[in-house]
Amino acid sequence: MSRIDLNKKYNSECEKGCNKEERQKKAENDTCMMVKSQNDNLSVRCVGEWAEDKIYLLHQYFGIFAGGMKKKWPLNYIEICSGPGICINRQSGFEFDGTAISIIKHEQFQHINKAIFYDYDNNVVDTLNKRISHLNLSHKAIARYGDYNNPNSICAELKILGPNCLNLILIDPTDCSVPFSLIEKITATLKHVDLIINVATMTDFNRNIQMAFGDPKRAEKYIRFLGNGSYFSSSENIAYCANKNYPKLRESFRKHYAHSLENIGYKYFDFTSIRNYYDILFATSNPKGIEFWQKASKTIDSQGQRSLDFGI
Ligand SMILES: C[S@@+](CC[C@H](N)C(=O)[O-])C[C@H]1O[C@@H](n2cnc3c(N)ncnc32)[C@H](O)[C@@H]1O
Repeated sequence: MSRIDLNKKYNSECEKGCNKEERQKKAENDTCMMVKSQNDNLSVRCVGEWAEDKIYLLHQYFGIFAGGMKKKWPLNYIEICSGPGICINRQSGFEFDGTAISIIKHEQFQHINKAIFYDYDNNVVDTLNKRISHLNLSHKAIARYGDYNNPNSICAELKILGPNCLNLILIDPTDCSVPFSLIEKITATLKHVDLIINVATMTDFNRNIQMAFGDPKRAEKYIRFLGNGSYFSSSENIAYCANKNYPKLRESFRKHYAHSLENIGYKYFDFTSIRNYYDILFATSNPKGIEFWQKASKTIDSQGQRSLDFGI
């Protein structure tokens, strides 16, 4: 297991504790307009305290994956919803490396052939490219404009990676609006894919799922996410919904998603809950992949307790 240095630093420019309305005034797409990073004077993404746990888990898995597979496969790393590379915790005022920068600074990143980071916010893409360039890694890492609602354009680019590599893909949205067709298209394009997906099973899901059962327009988004409508037509789920049985509805949502993934070739799944905010889903067709993931996820529990310290 690797020790994590997320370059955590207190940023005195952060006013701390901004509520939703204040954030709407002071941030654009959660990029804070008031605060720049203490490290490089570029933009930071305003996040809740749970964001670090996801990065910790990703970092642990990445180390085991790249270290374990480097001699067996050429490896690529791809992120969809990359963010600008540095986050700031709005409760504590500490900034720290986000998913993209924590991966490209990882000691095992040397074993990656190509890393591509997609975001649909051009400012986020420019900022991340500047950070990649400061780290002298522009020859193998790049941030690109890409909208997950347009799988064809993302996959037209991913094609250049070829079908003979092992690809680790993180998809990190804030809600359940990533279409299943994106996963299908990526899998068909790249062939060998391990997936890590942030599934908003407690935020977006809790707020909207009950209304979606009675409202086909609202249900559309979740049907698109799951890849089909069987979740909403299941009589068991209709009964859970009537009884407001959210734990069972959530469990069934996870099962339906895993089932859709199974239909396109994924065999092993794991959902790791992050502080009751969201699930991190890992999916692979390789038994080694799930073994590595279980090793990585053992280092964190659902309350965000980490069994290894951050190197701060
Ligand atoms: C949760 S944040 C990512 C945080 C980042 N992965 C990290 O932890 O450092 C979600 C990102 O998704 C991007 N995003 C939202 N909708 C998108 C879409 N349709 N296609 C691509 N990116 C999108 C946002 O601009 C934002 O940067």
